[in-house]
Amino acid sequence: MANIKSLQIIEANVGDHLTAIVNFQIAMADETENLKLDPLTVKKGVTAVFDDPHRGKYYVCVETFSHQCSVKVVASMLTIPEWSDWRNATCIWIHSVYVVPEYRRQRIFAMMYDHLKEKVISNSEYFALRLYVDKRNVGAQNVYQRLGMNNHHYLLYEWIKV
Ligand SMILES: CC(C)(COP(=O)(O)OP(=O)(O)OC[C@H]1O[C@@H](n2cnc3c(N)ncnc32)[C@H](O)[C@@H]1OP(=O)(O)O)[C@@H](O)C(=O)NCCC(=O)NCCS
Repeated sequence: MANIKSLQIIEANVGDHLTAIVNFQIAMADETENLKLDPLTVKKGVTAVFDDPHRGKYYVCVETFSHQCSVKVVASMLTIPEWSDWRNATCIWIHSVYVVPEYRRQRIFAMMYDHLKEKVISNSEYFALRLYVDKRNVGAQNVYQRLGMNNHHYLLYEWIKV
């Protein structure tokens, strides 16, 4: 019997996706910023989003194998709403994007991005998608530009308590 595979973007739930999302965050921080995150802190941080939907919403890309009736989580991203008084509408910030290495360059992030873009286009409650990216992460910057985003307007400033 042929083992037909399908990729699907779905809203994440804590029962099925917590472990994958936590592992992806730890892998991403290591890969992109050489940061070693504390697993327990990340688990609490991800759980806090599931506990309070106002904090944000995770999406995952799952691959389903018809033959084995099994599902594999291959990517995730977090979306965070930000109210704009100028626009009287909400900007969706894209955070924590991660695609497992062996699934990259198969347009999985492009699928997740299109999913959000469609949500913004079809709903007057939203007006934009935004994200920030580490200056050294040139690969991800290229991806965002390929998909039609630009960095023409803003610079990001921060102060972090040590
Ligand atoms: C950045 C990342 C999310 C991209 O995901 P992906 O699923 O591989 O990207 P896609 O396959 O959807 O690529 C979209 C487009 O960008 C291009 N692209 C993908 N990776 C690229 C790279 N490293 N350099 C240049 N172009 C790239 C693709 O060819 C595609 O172009 P097309 O529209 O002409 O087909 C993934 O590489 C990743 O998880 N990286 C590690 C974590 C990370 O950097 N996260 C972002 C933090 S801000």
